[in-house]
Amino acid sequence: MRFRTILPRWNQAHSLRPSISGATPNRIVKMIRINNLKKVYRSNNVETTAIANANLRVDFGEFVAITGPSGSGKTTLLSILGMLDTATEGEYFLFDTDVSKYSERERADLRRENIGFVFQNFNLINELTVYENIELPLFYLGLTSSERREIVMSTMDRLRITPRRNHFPQQLSGGQQQRAAVARAIVGKQKLILADEPTGNLDSRNGEEVMTLLAQLNEAGTTIIMVTHSAEYASWAGRLVRIFDGHLVNEDILTGVPGVLELR
Ligand SMILES: Nc1ncnc2c1ncn2[C@@H]1O[C@H](COP(=O)(O)OP(=O)(O)OP(=O)(O)O)[C@@H](O)[C@H]1O
Ligand SMILES: [Mg+2]
Repeated sequence: MRFRTILPRWNQAHSLRPSISGATPNRIVKMIRINNLKKVYRSNNVETTAIANANLRVDFGEFVAITGPSGSGKTTLLSILGMLDTATEGEYFLFDTDVSKYSERERADLRRENIGFVFQNFNLINELTVYENIELPLFYLGLTSSERREIVMSTMDRLRITPRRNHFPQQLSGGQQQRAAVARAIVGKQKLILADEPTGNLDSRNGEEVMTLLAQLNEAGTTIIMVTHSAEYASWAGRLVRIFDGHLVNEDILTGVPGVLELR
């Protein structure tokens, strides 16, 4: 089992956790609520305020685009929302539970069961095939091999990458790698996808294909928060959040007319 050699690295970012106690996400409208969230990085005696007093609410089933200049705090915000990092100050409620008080282990459990990540550079594990990359989250969720197989096969079919199942990531095009990464993000029926510039390394045809995929997932009920530098792709979302120097300056509701924004 090749997973054994991969485990330590994967565990760093996706350690095993128990499920959230008492939460019944389907009955909760609010998926995410952050209150006065602040993130300060301190290194070499330099302080950087990456997120400054941010407030944000995201409901179940929303598709939210986050846009802003380079260095404005988009990845930092996504990392905190995904519980890969913690805020310096403020509250973070996920499924109406204050996860800022959770232990590292509790956060990782919650993350593993509910959140899928899609990154600009795909972040597939090069030593694993497409099939094995997609299977990995299910391995950590404790599913049996036959259970994993059934789910992985249907997910690959849905994302049209079955013919590439035995390929390694570097044998795939960028678009195929991102489809595999999206498959990995949803294979455990994760309710929330956090995507950090998912089309950033793709040409327009593949970018559009990945956006179509995300839109279809959203229509099927998955909540999506996507960082993008593309105004066009931001317009695929139901709501736009702008960030400047760590400040969430406004939240716009798209009117449905491309390029026209209306302040909430
Ligand atoms: N680990 C870190 N240590 C110190 N400073 C950091 C760290 N990570 C990010 N920063 C700083 O925090 C700020 C926000 O960075 P972040 O990566 O969130 O920006 P971004 O909006 O995602 O930018 P880009 O569009 O270039 O990806 C930047 O000033 C960055 O230099
Ligand atoms: Mg970034």
